[in-house]
Formats: sequence, structure tokens, C-alpha cells
Amino acid sequence: TKRVFSGIQPTGNLHLGNYLGAIRNWVTMQDEYECIYCIVDLHAITMPHVPAELRANTLEMAAALLASGIDPKRAILFNQSRVRMHAELAWILNCTARMGWLNRMTQFKDKSGKDKEGASVGLFVYPVLQAADILGYKATHVPVGDDQKQHLELARDIATKFNTDFGVELFPLPEPVIGGHNAAGPARVMSLRDGTAKMSKSDPSDMSRINLTDDADTIANKIKRAKTDPEPLPETAAGLEGRPEARNLVGLYAALADCSVDAVLADYAGKGFGAFKPALAELMITALAPINDRFVHLRADPAYLSQVLRDGGERANAIAEPVLAQVQETVGFLR
Ligand code: TYM
Repeated sequence: TKRVFSGIQPTGNLHLGNYLGAIRNWVTMQDEYECIYCIVDLHAITMPHVPAELRANTLEMAAALLASGIDPKRAILFNQSRVRMHAELAWILNCTARMGWLNRMTQFKDKSGKDKEGASVGLFVYPVLQAADILGYKATHVPVGDDQKQHLELARDIATKFNTDFGVELFPLPEPVIGGHNAAGPARVMSLRDGTAKMSKSDPSDMSRINLTDDADTIANKIKRAKTDPEPLPETAAGLEGRPEARNLVGLYAALADCSVDAVLADYAGKGFGAFKPALAELMITALAPINDRFVHLRADPAYLSQVLRDGGERANAIAEPVLAQVQETVGFLR
């Protein structure tokens, strides 16, 4: 049987990259599988943060996920720090993971910047906590964007080494499910200002991303001002080679319209961005408006959001506790 786990950081709000790369997939998977979705507040403190903002952002993220279609009656939605397994299993897996493996993680290199000596130890072992998140529920499938591929590989390596070291078959190897919910879903949504950088909450320019909470005028303006090139659109996807901004915008259109890139180009080949951009903005506004409406509604009800997370935490804990006990037994802790 399949069990799905995935997580998102409660830093800033949901953007279109999160949504098309991962969250839309979270929503469709809850129809078919047992799904556990986690707002990873333990991960959020690996970087400097303000406590009151973390609390507020955790609730906002819960509102955004519910607004996107996560159904707390079917899926489990909770914040990570409520379930002690995450921190405890991470410690045990820290003793399985190798320094060399973590030294190869590109996210640590990106996030720590020039000051490696000044980075928190937590930031260095961040991917081990992520492995604990997944393995502590014996999850089999993990819907994520392309940027999480390396962390998923590490989780598989840790699971394999743990199983081999102790001669058990405790952890199943989790499979990444990368990208949108069909072939049109982009695995990596790029910045609107630079087609070679991923869309990200940490980009200082808000013009680089579409937030799920942007209103219609903001979306129209961001698309209008999105970077492009002067060429008309090509006949086929192959013609987007070497045109990262054009490829990104056409990819977004395809993902939102639920069709292939070639199908989009069949309508727009030979036309310029002056014709394409308003159509893209229109499509985006139509897709995001209902999410935005629900978000505004949900955000105004923190008591409900807290209740959803508390209830989710209890259900998550009930799955995680027996796995943690099995791990403790396996490594030889007297209990
Ligand atoms: P986070 O919070 O950075 O992002 C949440 C999800 O959104 C995807 N994503 C994107 N996909 C496509 N294009 C983009 N521009 C883009 N930006 C973000 C991410 O791939 C991710 O799926 N380490 C994780 C959180 C995490 C986790 C886990 C994920 C903690 N534990 C266990 C899966 C399983 C992170 O920082 O995601």
C-alpha cells in the first residue's frame, strides 16, 4: 500500500512554484492514498527567525494549504514540532548518515553562503531531519518539486544503510513524485525575472514570483513585466531551447491549462509576447481566484486552523510512535 508524505516550510506564503511543483500533486494524491502533509517548523529554525513570525506563518501556511484543496478529513495536516518522532528519529539517523554525504548537499552550500563556519549545525543536518520526516511514517511516495531530488536521494541512502547496518527491512525506500499532477506540470517553476533561477520565497524581488495570495491586478502586472525575449513563439517545444524565460511562461500556461507545451504552441506559434502574456495572466487569475477567496476566509479563523493542526498532529503521532519504537528497539535502546 502507498503512504504519501510531504512537507513545506512555513516561511513566507505559497507561491506558484510550490503550487505547480508540489501542492497540486498533494491535492490529487489525497483522493487515492493515505496522505500526511507537514508544515516543517523544525526545519524553519535552521535559519535565523522571529518566533512570533514563525507562529503566524505556520497558521498562514495551514490556511494556504487548506485553500489549495487539502482536505483535513482525508489527509493529515499538522506542524512538525507537535510530533516528537521527527526530532528523535533525526538524532538516530544522524548516526547513520555520513559526513561525506551531507558535504555534497547543494542546498547547504546555497543557504549558508560564504559564511560556512557561521551556519547553524541544524542547517547542515537539515536533510537528515527531512529523511526522518519521511522514514518515520514509512512513507513510500513523496510529492516534491525538482529541487528536492537530492534530499530524496539522501533519504533513500539513509534508509538503505540503516536497513543494512542492522539487518532489518524496517524502512521502505521512498519514491520521489516530481512535478505537477500530469505530464504538463513543470518540475521547476522559474523566476519571472530570470529564467535560469527557480521561483523562490527567498528572492528579494516580489516581482520574481506569483504568490497564491496575489490579487488580479498584481498578477496581471507581474506577468506584463515578466522578462521575455523579442522572438515570436516557436512551433514546437524544441524551439524553446535556449530561451529559458519563454519556456517558463509557456510551461506555466500548459500547467494551468492542463495541456502539453506543444498544444499551447499550436495556438500561439508566430505570435509575440504582447499577445501571449494577457492570455497567460487571464488563465492564472482564473485559476488562483478561488484559492485566494478561500484563503482570505480561512486566515480569519485561527481557532479553526489550530484545531486542524492539533487534530492532524494527534493522527500523525499515532502512526509515528510505533515506527519510532521499532527503531529504538532495533538500535538497542533499553525500553
Ligand atoms: P519548500 O518549503 O522549499 O518547498 C515546498 C515544495 O515546493 C516545491 N518547490 C518548487 N517546485 C517547483 N518549482 C519551484 N520553483 C519550487 N519551489 C519550491 C519544493 O520542491 C517542495 O516540494 N525541504 C523541503 C520541505 C520538507 C520536505 C520534507 C519535503 C521538509 N521535510 C519531507 C518532502 C518530504 C522544503 O524546503 O520545501
